Amino acid sequence: MEVVPLGHALGAEIRGVDITDEIGDNLVAAIREAWHRHHIIVFRGVTWRPDQHLTFSRRFGTLDDHEATPHERFEGYPELLEITNRAKNGQPSQSRNAGRNWHSDYSYTDRPAAASMLFCTEKPSVGGDTMFCNMARAYNELSDKMKSIVGDLQSVYDFNLVSGTRVRDPEKMAELLKLNPPIAHPCVRVHNESGVKALYISERTSHFEGMTRAESLPLIQYLCDSATRPENVYRHQWRVGDLVCWDNRTAMHMALGDFDESEFRHMLRTTLQGEKSGYVVAPAVD
Ligand SMILES: [Fe+2]
Repeated sequence: MEVVPLGHALGAEIRGVDITDEIGDNLVAAIREAWHRHHIIVFRGVTWRPDQHLTFSRRFGTLDDHEATPHERFEGYPELLEITNRAKNGQPSQSRNAGRNWHSDYSYTDRPAAASMLFCTEKPSVGGDTMFCNMARAYNELSDKMKSIVGDLQSVYDFNLVSGTRVRDPEKMAELLKLNPPIAHPCVRVHNESGVKALYISERTSHFEGMTRAESLPLIQYLCDSATRPENVYRHQWRVGDLVCWDNRTAMHMALGDFDESEFRHMLRTTLQGEKSGYVVAPAVD
């Protein structure tokens, strides 16, 4: 196995591993170590089959069955999420604009995703990239005083701030809001496997618990801006056959809509369950 860094801040390609083969425990441990070190790992030239995607993903944890977003499940496989701009059952896809702001997956649930593994089956001729940023580095670069301030805060996540909600069917949106009320998580989280501390904030954070939205927004904005500055970002240009795995505990990401919508972008994702965290709170006060 060879680990080839793709970016200074984060990201590495793993070569010499056939993920459709049986993977021994030593290899799983080596991949996991590289994943912790680089936050984003990329396997290229994969021939995808749903069962192989599930088998490989399960070597790294328990799979989420996507109860929080039931309409995006891949038919017959609740543990696979379909992110596509292809019509589904004759209707526009609910996920066609998914992920278009900086976020960490399932931060609006009480079991935020530990990691996600996204496979590209179809992509536009140009664009449709995904950007990632390193939230452990973003935390480390704060001053000691700011570290102690954010260490005392709880970030509240609101499903209304999930991108693409405008294109959702109003009935489905009402159901999703009921399934996913505002929830507070620590603004600084400790990675349960590597022990690394990382900022847990995003463009889906509405406010800090106990503070108004007006009081919270400037700090949310500052933390997001500093975390997503270009030096802290890896931008992935997809190829069909890429499996990109990211750690939601130490990285944020954003899917770019920089492509011709008449072309198709089709992806399938498994989601590794994280630890239960957070509690339901009242919506933001202005
Ligand atoms: Fe996402």
